[in-house]
Amino acid sequence: MAGEQVAFFKGGFRPLSDATVSVRSKALNYGLGCFEGIRAYWSKPENQLYIFRAEDHYERLLLSTKIVHLKLNMTVEQLVAATVELCRRNAPREDTYIRPLVFNNSELMSPQLTDEPAELAIYTLPLRDYLDVTKGVTACISSWRRVSDNMIPARAKPTAAYMNSALARLEAKENGYDEAIFLTNDGYVSEGSAEHIFIVREGKLITPSSQEDNLDGITRRTLCQIAPELGFEVVVRRISRTELYVADEAFLCGTGAEVCPLVSVDRRPVGDGKPGPITMALQKLFWRVVRAEVPKFADWCKPVYPK
Ligand SMILES: Cc1ncc(COP(=O)(O)O)c(C=O)c1O
Repeated sequence: MAGEQVAFFKGGFRPLSDATVSVRSKALNYGLGCFEGIRAYWSKPENQLYIFRAEDHYERLLLSTKIVHLKLNMTVEQLVAATVELCRRNAPREDTYIRPLVFNNSELMSPQLTDEPAELAIYTLPLRDYLDVTKGVTACISSWRRVSDNMIPARAKPTAAYMNSALARLEAKENGYDEAIFLTNDGYVSEGSAEHIFIVREGKLITPSSQEDNLDGITRRTLCQIAPELGFEVVVRRISRTELYVADEAFLCGTGAEVCPLVSVDRRPVGDGKPGPITMALQKLFWRVVRAEVPKFADWCKPVYPK
């Protein structure tokens, strides 16, 4: 990576420092936007950067824009092509995070969504571990409840919902935990501040559905699809708070978090308080999948550089 990074903004590529908005932007004042988080993985043996499930992320972005009434006049194919070109221009040779952001950039006063086209920005940055995926993390049940789908749509990725995540994460950190786990307003397990959650009981993987006010997650979907390769059954159902305390294993997952063991919840050790064997087996397979090392799932990995 040499020289100034570029961003995709206002329909073209420009230096990152030129991709700016006015302080009057509605996106800044009212959080009228939605976004994606995508990872691209560097494969050393192949000298290649692979964008993981790019089409799925952009399909979700377009669904988010539909939910929050932002008009983005681009197709999934155009969005993927712009992202591949952006990566080529920034030329990373390391694991990279890609952030597409769609927002209402009007400078008119009032938190009103309009029919005018939304702005799109895409930028990249280097990203290794978002959480400690080797040792695992501690978590608490947040005193903040997850915003329900009828308040700020949790199924999508609206920028405004991340105030909820940030408050929960702050509280967790201030109380000495690494992460926060949200409950829904009904008191069932929803998700982490930016991750989904799985528990393991009697050898089965259990995770709550998106009806529990959580994002329609791509890593969760990936794990549900690859777990059978290791002979693990996945059950999608409600999880009670106290099931977290008696689970044999538990882990968080997400584009940032990847597959991250949970070693304690509310200071009760999960299992024996160490990353569990099923979690670690899944993590190992996940890392092979995202670097295009498993032929069955290699279509999820889009090469950036010409082969
Ligand atoms: C609130 C929230 N939940 C879950 C996730 C994990 O979802 P995904 O696996 O699609 O990245 C994220 C991160 O994107 C998130 O922000």
